[in-house]
Amino acid sequence: MTTDAEFDAWTAGQSYDRYMGRWSAAVAERFLDWLEPPGGARWVEAGCGTGALTSAILRRCAPASVLATDASAEFAAHARAAISDPRARFATADAADLPAEDGSADIVASGLVLNFLPDRLAGLAEMRRVLRPGGLLSFYAWDYPGGGIGFLDAFWQAAAALDPAAAALDEGARFPFCTRDGLAALLAEAGIGAPAIAPIEIVTEFPDFEAFWQPFTLGAGPAPGYCTSLPPDRREALKTRLAERLGAGRPVSFRARAWAVKARMPT
Ligand SMILES: C[S@@+](CC[C@H](N)C(=O)[O-])C[C@H]1O[C@@H](n2cnc3c(N)ncnc32)[C@H](O)[C@@H]1O
Repeated sequence: MTTDAEFDAWTAGQSYDRYMGRWSAAVAERFLDWLEPPGGARWVEAGCGTGALTSAILRRCAPASVLATDASAEFAAHARAAISDPRARFATADAADLPAEDGSADIVASGLVLNFLPDRLAGLAEMRRVLRPGGLLSFYAWDYPGGGIGFLDAFWQAAAALDPAAAALDEGARFPFCTRDGLAALLAEAGIGAPAIAPIEIVTEFPDFEAFWQPFTLGAGPAPGYCTSLPPDRREALKTRLAERLGAGRPVSFRARAWAVKARMPT
């Protein structure tokens, strides 16, 4: 069966880093500025990917420990190989089944993952389960419906102009709840009260069109997964359309916005 998740390819760590990991690393820094976590905390991370947020936590937050998990064994292995820190442990695990005891974490964090979970409420319930009373639940998600990742928006608009079926794959269409109000409603449905929600904005700059285009050809993530599924002539047509729109020889710059969310558990 074809689903809108069929191109959600989470395996090639290096390719993911070239496509999204470098931008998620920038968002992770802003997120931690905003989160202001205390030192000495026991962290659990759901969906660590290649370790963008994990390494920022280790570098900046003086954690007691970080249990970083991802459903992709390849990504968990990539992060484990890239980050050698005795405070960090990596595991392959679904966000709805975290390998941590009830109430064992001071902080649960998750970067750019919640929208990809097949059951978001189960994911949030699992984060709550592992948090101690008074612990901090936190995550961030791209503002997809608001055109929140400019470079991705440009890609999907061009793709849908050539292939109407691509419109359903656009994360803006797939994840309409990734707005301030939508996330607040999701948390309310999960029984998580009084969240703080704030925008995080970064600039994504590419020195030229080729630098913008190349990560889409590497296959890691939904848009690259779609791009690499196209036969060569249709891929070339998509590239040409984007080059005409963005200009072939000059720098390409977009804005990207994520929503950061934090909520304190009841004591
Ligand atoms: C956009 S990436 C974000 C990765 C990383 N946190 C970052 O900021 O770069 C989404 C991640 O969610 C993971 N993921 C998808 N479904 C998952 C699930 N059900 N449980 C845990 N992780 C999942 C993917 O393997 C991928 O690493």
